[in-house]
Amino acid sequence: MKGVILAGGLGTRLAPLTRVTNKHLLPIYDKPMIFYPIQCLVNAGIRDILLVTGGASAGDFLSLLRNGRDFGLSRLHYAYQEGEGGIADALRIAEPFADGERICVVLGDNIIERDIRRGVEGFEKQPKGAKIYLKEVPDPERFGVPVLEGKKVVKILEKPKSPPSRFAVIGIYFYDARVFEIIRTLRPSGRGELEITDVNNAYIESGEMTWEVLDGWWTDAGTFESLLRASNLVKERGANKS
Ligand code: DAU
Repeated sequence: MKGVILAGGLGTRLAPLTRVTNKHLLPIYDKPMIFYPIQCLVNAGIRDILLVTGGASAGDFLSLLRNGRDFGLSRLHYAYQEGEGGIADALRIAEPFADGERICVVLGDNIIERDIRRGVEGFEKQPKGAKIYLKEVPDPERFGVPVLEGKKVVKILEKPKSPPSRFAVIGIYFYDARVFEIIRTLRPSGRGELEITDVNNAYIESGEMTWEVLDGWWTDAGTFESLLRASNLVKERGANKS
């Protein structure tokens, strides 16, 4: 399985911190944010990794990460997203890299306490389709939220005003090669983006989506509150522990 990290976007919710740099280069406790999703993939045994980024600071990723030696890698792949067309727009760029193989996609501002090895193994055994992680959160209205019927996810709502459950769909996703066909069918949402939630709903509609609840803490880091929380969690409880 190959890994794709999405680290584009404007990070406007963190302005002025993001006026002269990319959100994923900001510190989370003692490391740049982008280190955490890379470590997450490497700990899961995924070593073939593409980093998608964009904007004026894109070159800084190369200066910071070089060939990935901090992670025991001998090379990293890079791609550039023109504009900020959304998470699924950034993922679209990964099609030639994926080259028909399955992928694990990690959003560049998502940080986890433990590892995703069990999820990788589970998805490798799954004949086809996609897999997502859910996590119970106090503020589901900030995220993609699953509509659950018993143990079945029947739909995901993006940032619903009245959340249908207490779970968030976190930013770590497993997809087979059909993901790129699905992206080609998408239309921009109300916020003008190609939404990853629309991709996930397409898999749900065709009955090819599985899910599990993530072990350990999880946070995004795209707002001042969550950026601070991420640093505190990493300092106090550690991240990417096996
Ligand atoms: O954190 C999990 C949540 O991430 C999910 O629950 C939501 O369903 C999903 O839509 C997403 O929500 P956000 O609105 O918080 O996503 P955000 O716009 O902050 O983008 C998350 C990451 O995706 C960001 O750190 C970099 C990448 N991205 C985003 C955009 C808009 C790109 O690479 N390119 C983009 O154009």
